[in-house]
Amino acid sequence: MPLLDIRNVSFIDGSKTILDHVSVSAESHDFISITGPSGSGKSTLLKICSHMISPTEGDVFFKDRNFTDYNPVELRRKISHCFQTPCLWGRTVRENIYFPYWLRGIKPDQERIRNLFSLFRLPLAYMDQSAEKLSGGEKQRIALIRSIVIEPEILLLDEVTSALDAENTQITEQVIQHLHEEGLTVLWVTHSTVQSRKYANKILTVVSGQIHSLEVIK
Ligand SMILES: Nc1ncnc2c1ncn2[C@@H]1O[C@H](COP(=O)(O)OP(=O)(O)OP(=O)(O)O)[C@@H](O)[C@H]1O
Ligand SMILES: [Mg+2]
Repeated sequence: MPLLDIRNVSFIDGSKTILDHVSVSAESHDFISITGPSGSGKSTLLKICSHMISPTEGDVFFKDRNFTDYNPVELRRKISHCFQTPCLWGRTVRENIYFPYWLRGIKPDQERIRNLFSLFRLPLAYMDQSAEKLSGGEKQRIALIRSIVIEPEILLLDEVTSALDAENTQITEQVIQHLHEEGLTVLWVTHSTVQSRKYANKILTVVSGQIHSLEVIK
């Protein structure tokens, strides 16, 4: 049984077909790189995968149950989406990092937070920084930590290293690979051919809203 199963999904906005009868599935522990030209529908596909938007045709299944049969909050707990343009809120980094815990009414797991900051080589003092004053690359990393403080079953990443230098890109890749080794299923949109081939076991190429190819490389 696939963990995530996209069956014959289209997404049409007005007269524009953005996704055109897409069928693809992710097995548990897959690491799928998603590539394709700008405007081909990659981000839209991830939004479908996280139930941020609903298909205009077709269905998405998580563990053999249709998305429409889930409580949206329950789905969001299991499928985490880190967006192409990071959006931080609140005053401080701390408010962003604590937000997923507050949402679920649970106490922040300080050890996990410390561990993630250390993996990303960010000093814990960042917690007190003003969220709006962070650089683009710092925002990307904080948004990424926020999306994994409570570990999801599937992590959807959309160009999350686009504002990072080579060193921080490598650190981020290693953290994701580490979480993948611990059992996380990853779908990662990237424009970098090198990045797409580094850790993935499958490469999905989207062209003009359709699946152009699904290459199994490991
Ligand atoms: N809600 C929407 N309504 C209308 N058009 C949309 C909507 N969302 C996306 N689009 C359009 O659909 C196409 C695919 O957008 P999408 O953001 O999925 O592409 P992408 O492959 O992620 O591109 P990039 O690599 O530049 O991030 C684009 O032409 C975009 O302008
Ligand atoms: Mg995109």
